[in-house]
Amino acid sequence: MTAKTSQRVVIAQISDLHIMPAGMLAYRRVDTAAALARCVTELNRFAPRPDLVVISGDLVDAPSPSAYKHLRQLLAPLEMPFAAVPGNHDDRDLVRAAFPGSYAHQSGALNSLRAIGAVDLVLIDSVTPGRDYGTLERETLAWLETVLAAAPTRPALLFLHHPPFVTGIEHMDVQNLRNAGELAAILRRHPRARLVAAGHVHRAVATRFAGASATICPAPNHAVALDLDARLPSSFIIEPPAFHLHVWSAGEDFGSVVTHWVPIGDFDGPHRFHDAAGQLL
Ligand SMILES: [Fe+2]
Repeated sequence: MTAKTSQRVVIAQISDLHIMPAGMLAYRRVDTAAALARCVTELNRFAPRPDLVVISGDLVDAPSPSAYKHLRQLLAPLEMPFAAVPGNHDDRDLVRAAFPGSYAHQSGALNSLRAIGAVDLVLIDSVTPGRDYGTLERETLAWLETVLAAAPTRPALLFLHHPPFVTGIEHMDVQNLRNAGELAAILRRHPRARLVAAGHVHRAVATRFAGASATICPAPNHAVALDLDARLPSSFIIEPPAFHLHVWSAGEDFGSVVTHWVPIGDFDGPHRFHDAAGQLL
């Protein structure tokens, strides 16, 4: 590890891929496979190359071996390492089978720890089997406490599918992390967490949680409509696809994290501000 890389860690987060078996559309309308293919292309051409891509759940839309096989095919062109947590649309056993050797436990929750340079990435399974809302199970809470206690001087970035806070979109908020208070209590005992990054809502959201920055990652496909009126029916909308880029920089108090919203697509530019002589164009 060079001095330069030890001072900065770049993590791309993509979320809620909702991959279908090959040839099928999600909700009879959304080509989630094409959306992920565009996202992979965007990640591969991004410079500097992210150190890791974290996929924060809902890897497939409905769990089946063929859906996870399609997911693996779509991720194969990705030129950098990736790690995934499950979402409420996933099946633990099928995720474990799709990515063997990726998780801390042989059965149950799909938790994992990745050390990237000076930073620990703590990837947390928030799935409640058979339900859409999130829970951190007893074993996961104990694992998290142990992991965070093991290296108290290293900064930590946490990833999980279900947001541990409300967004104002009520039909999603009823599915958020039910025992967020237990997560908050752990983070207050271990203040090295600099980021709590979630998915699930298919929209870019930023707030604070237990002393850390907290975000929700947008999706490469469909967004949940920004309906702050609880009387509206739950609905999705095709907005500009995007992912998050979390840039950790070394510094006091476990360093700092900035989250960039990165749109996916071909755009006009970049154009230089100045000519070769330094004059403003
Ligand atoms: Fe989702």
